[in-house]
Amino acid sequence: MDKILIQGGIALAGEVHISGAKNAALPILAATLLSSEIHRLKNVPRLGDITTLKRLLEKIGAEISEKDDYCEIQVKHIKNNEAPYSWVKTMRATILVLGPLLARCGEAHVSLPGGCAIGARPIQLHLMGLEKMGAEITIEHGIIHAKAAKLKGAAIYLETPTVTGTETLMMAAALAEGTTTIENAACEPEIGDLAHFLNHCGAQIIGAGTDHIVINGVSALSGASYEVMPDRIEAGTFMLAAAITKGDLHLKNCRPADMISIIEKCRTTGSEIRVEKDALRVLGKEIHAVDLKTLPYPGLPTDMQAQFMALMSVSDGASVITETIFESRFNHCAELRRMGADIRVEGKHAMIKGVPRLSAAPIMASDLRASASLILAGLVAEGETEIRRIYHLDRGYEAIEQKLTDVGAVIQRVKGKA
Ligand code: EPZ
Repeated sequence: MDKILIQGGIALAGEVHISGAKNAALPILAATLLSSEIHRLKNVPRLGDITTLKRLLEKIGAEISEKDDYCEIQVKHIKNNEAPYSWVKTMRATILVLGPLLARCGEAHVSLPGGCAIGARPIQLHLMGLEKMGAEITIEHGIIHAKAAKLKGAAIYLETPTVTGTETLMMAAALAEGTTTIENAACEPEIGDLAHFLNHCGAQIIGAGTDHIVINGVSALSGASYEVMPDRIEAGTFMLAAAITKGDLHLKNCRPADMISIIEKCRTTGSEIRVEKDALRVLGKEIHAVDLKTLPYPGLPTDMQAQFMALMSVSDGASVITETIFESRFNHCAELRRMGADIRVEGKHAMIKGVPRLSAAPIMASDLRASASLILAGLVAEGETEIRRIYHLDRGYEAIEQKLTDVGAVIQRVKGKA
């Protein structure tokens, strides 16, 4: 397994090009199952989870060809309506094929995703909504068997604003008979991007990105050319790379309007942030201790919690981080403590006392955003930090060590034997 070595203590400076959003590209790729025509998708990031989903879509029947700056995908026929455990266990987001498969061909057999490092991550709300739309759903031997001759519009209330749950139901409703409403829908910008793509294909979706979405089902969807939105979590991660190294980064091709909570929280810690139309300039100055709590959008994203934890580990005081979305998303704390961070975890709260300097140590990534947190810590730790199990990182960041090298980081990937 590969590992990453980072020499700490360098202030980063220069331009970073932000890639397309993983969490918008995944549902948009799944949504291509809803049409038999050609889609041309630009700004799809080249990273692990995207590759996994593309391979699964090919097994289902998609023809995918990578061009210079876009990906062409067409699902003329559904050859196989299954997503077995061997696929789902490597990436839970494969659950996103359930809704489109059911809407396209009336039947789907998708492995029930297990939990993951950050929590149990149930999907009962996805299934509840599909049943309200007329699907017959049984679960046997860990496989979800879903059948529906024709999905019907329904009024659906989500007790929790689930992101992929909202996306599943929006995709299924796009081809249902009649109108579907989703109350207490998740509002993340990636949901708006998916709806924007679907409407380009002829869907009739209103209100995506708010907690009340209306979908008027149509009989068929066409192909579309579409550019995926920029990744706000990658941009946020690089913002904190500038903050923690007291550097000066110019983040190009990002969408500040999706990142208000991240920008404001980063400003409160002491960074200077200049907002441009599709770019951000971040100058790290002081690092003040601040409290933060993760919340559904437009609150501070849980996907930025680990990265802020690294920043607070070297702040000028004490802070409390509260994780309200996932029940075990503090796996990075133990590794940061190995580097000298002063962090105490009690339930959903982490109490952090900033230390003057972290020290390099061999550490291990546990999940995607924890890996990013460890990279940030390595950028400021004294000595050379070695991070193992970086396959977690590769699932969600495109060429991160190249992007960091381009702005001055001394970072290298060492190919593993095993
Ligand atoms: C999406 O996961 C993202 N993944 C996650 O990003 C992100 O952390 C999460 O939303 C929250 O913003 C993708 O978009 C591919 P949820 P998702 O369903 O949809 C509970 C990353 O790092 N819940 O919104 O799986 C659930 O337990 C990843 O890029 C139910 O109780 O998250 C959790 O507490 C990690 N029942 C809360 O809702 C359900 O049926 C939010 O989960 C569904 C969810």
